[in-house]
Amino acid sequence: MAAPAQTRTALITGATAGIGAAFARRLAADGYALVIVARDAQRLASTAEALTAGHGTTVDIIQADLSTEEGRERVAARLSDEQRPVDLLVNNAGLSLNTSFVLSTPEREATLLGVNVHAVMRLTLAVLPGMVRRRSGSVINVSSVSGFAAAMPGSTYPASKAWVTNFTESVASSVAGFGVRLMALCPGYVRSEFHGRAGIDMSKTPNFLWLDADELVRDAMRDLKRGKVISVPSWKYKTVVFAMRYLPRGLLQRAARDTRGRIGRDEI
Ligand SMILES: NC(=O)c1ccc[n+]([C@@H]2O[C@H](COP(=O)([O-])OP(=O)(O)OC[C@H]3O[C@@H](n4cnc5c(N)ncnc54)[C@H](OP(=O)(O)O)[C@@H]3O)[C@@H](O)[C@H]2O)c1
Repeated sequence: MAAPAQTRTALITGATAGIGAAFARRLAADGYALVIVARDAQRLASTAEALTAGHGTTVDIIQADLSTEEGRERVAARLSDEQRPVDLLVNNAGLSLNTSFVLSTPEREATLLGVNVHAVMRLTLAVLPGMVRRRSGSVINVSSVSGFAAAMPGSTYPASKAWVTNFTESVASSVAGFGVRLMALCPGYVRSEFHGRAGIDMSKTPNFLWLDADELVRDAMRDLKRGKVISVPSWKYKTVVFAMRYLPRGLLQRAARDTRGRIGRDEI
């Protein structure tokens, strides 16, 4: 008798809202068993219940605050457990701040770096050795188009995403010969809770710039399958990224100075 097909497992951080929730729906539909991570226990439970009801998926929950060492280590322990291998890690949880750096606090900056940068490094490092030994596995790090425009204002968020994209590209090269893939997913504006949480007013952002989370994830999974290391879904944002990468730096810096990042004299 043939051995039963192995169920693949995916771990998704920030799986209860926005892009992470779209990944959870898509991967559940693809037959993955899921491990979902976020801070809000009630929301984790209702998300798991909906995924199981909709797709018959097994869903494990890890309640963890990824801005803390303790939270990161709890998730890292699950990722390095070789008895329960994780085939796909989606480092998705992330946040922005609505403060210019000079007006920020060390605590807020540490929270942003803890989730956007430190957790991505720690969880990738927890999962990769097992993937390399098994000669299979993938990591998707959710970055942002803003990572290509570190001259743009918007707190230290663009700098954190520049790190995610560069980190992913670098580590992807080092494991490419071992059947393991890493991909940085760089979305433009996506409708989610992200801007509301940061207190960023997006009411003047034109409709055509918004992406749908489920379509974004569909394009991301297609790009992963094709072996892309950097995925920028939608032609609109491919054009934006091209401009950000190849326009003269001085021009971008001048444009940034003229936009919302300027600090009013009466603010400091
Ligand atoms: N939306 C956009 O326009 C956009 C554009 C480019 C890139 N991105 C990136 O896409 C990713 C997902 O963003 P989104 O728009 O889907 O955000 P979202 O709707 O605000 O969802 C954030 C998710 O992350 C979890 N989370 C937040 N802080 C956490 C923490 N400290 N520890 C653990 N989990 C935490 C939240 O659950 P809890 O609150 O329960 O923890 C929630 O599940 C982020 O990395 C973001 O930078 C977003």
